Amino acid sequence: MIRSRIVGTGGYLPARIVTNDELSRTLDTSDEWIRSRTGIRQRHIAAPDETSSDLALPASRTALAAAGVAAADLDLIVVATSTPDFVFPSTACLLQAKLGVRSCPAFDVQAVCSGFVYALATADSFIRAGQSRRALVVGTEVFSRILDWNDRGTCVLFGDGAGAAVLVADERPGIHATVLHADGAHAGILSVPGNVCGGSIVGSPFVRMDGQAVFKFAVRVLEEAAREALGRCGLGVADVDWLIPHQANVRILDATARKLGIPPEKVVVTVDRHANTSAASVPLALDEAVRDGRIRAGHRVLLEGVGGGFTWGAALVEM
Ligand code: ACO
Repeated sequence: MIRSRIVGTGGYLPARIVTNDELSRTLDTSDEWIRSRTGIRQRHIAAPDETSSDLALPASRTALAAAGVAAADLDLIVVATSTPDFVFPSTACLLQAKLGVRSCPAFDVQAVCSGFVYALATADSFIRAGQSRRALVVGTEVFSRILDWNDRGTCVLFGDGAGAAVLVADERPGIHATVLHADGAHAGILSVPGNVCGGSIVGSPFVRMDGQAVFKFAVRVLEEAAREALGRCGLGVADVDWLIPHQANVRILDATARKLGIPPEKVVVTVDRHANTSAASVPLALDEAVRDGRIRAGHRVLLEGVGGGFTWGAALVEM
């Protein structure tokens, strides 16, 4: 049976770092408040002319180099983003052109902070179905563009970045199980309720959030999705080497790990330095832990996303 396996990862963060102290110079907030409520110390912010496809390019090149796969040999590109370069063409098509390749299918997935898990599950399905053999899966965001920098309740939480993974067809199982869910009834607790119409923005182009409702929802579904993915493989929490939940907030990560009974030393945390990079957060954390040698061949890694929609999901991956 054909399965898919992650054979290379990459990440890219824009050069500019914005600390909590820097934010507190223009906003009624403090390093102490942000750290104690979220665990965030700093975030990377894209330059004015840097787009999601620009961030995706170096992350993708690094993942391809780690995989030993030439861009020309890709037969699928899936990009998860809520901050695309344009309404259309898709960021995946723009990335494909920047990689200098042609012809393979390329499309975006929009599942906000669950985007990478959705994109990974999509590419895994293409490979299992025999439609692809070498897929590039990317999460990339310039969330800084959809933040109201005068709203201290939201702007302190997010950052920009990109993460990527290369999947290849293999007879050995890499991706053991994926689970995806959505419930549009909760659209109102986290949204950017605007669109472009007749040359103007209709509604609001900024993130709106009911923080406490998001917190409770996220912790509940991250636990449920983890148990569901493990259950599909007949595995238990003790079989997991690393937990990589969506990096929204260190308190959400801690609560999820505690409910699952996973010790903190098995949880990969980047939110302190990256803040919440939405669809990029999971592949950036995966890449960091692969590169610093924590995640090694044979390790079982549980990747989890949760975000606006609401959407949520998990993937149990053997590296
Ligand atoms: N600095 C200082 N004070 C602030 C800030 C800030 N940046 N933001 C809010 N406050 C104030 C509020 O105005 C309020 O003041 P008041 O009591 O005078 O009215 C006070 O702090 C408490 O506000 P709450 O919103 O009740 O604070 P809470 O303890 O709930 O923390 C937070 C807010 C951190 C957003 C929390 O609800 C949370 O972590 N929620 C999860 C949201 C999240 O992670 N979202 C990411 C996107 S969703 C996703 O990725 C799944």
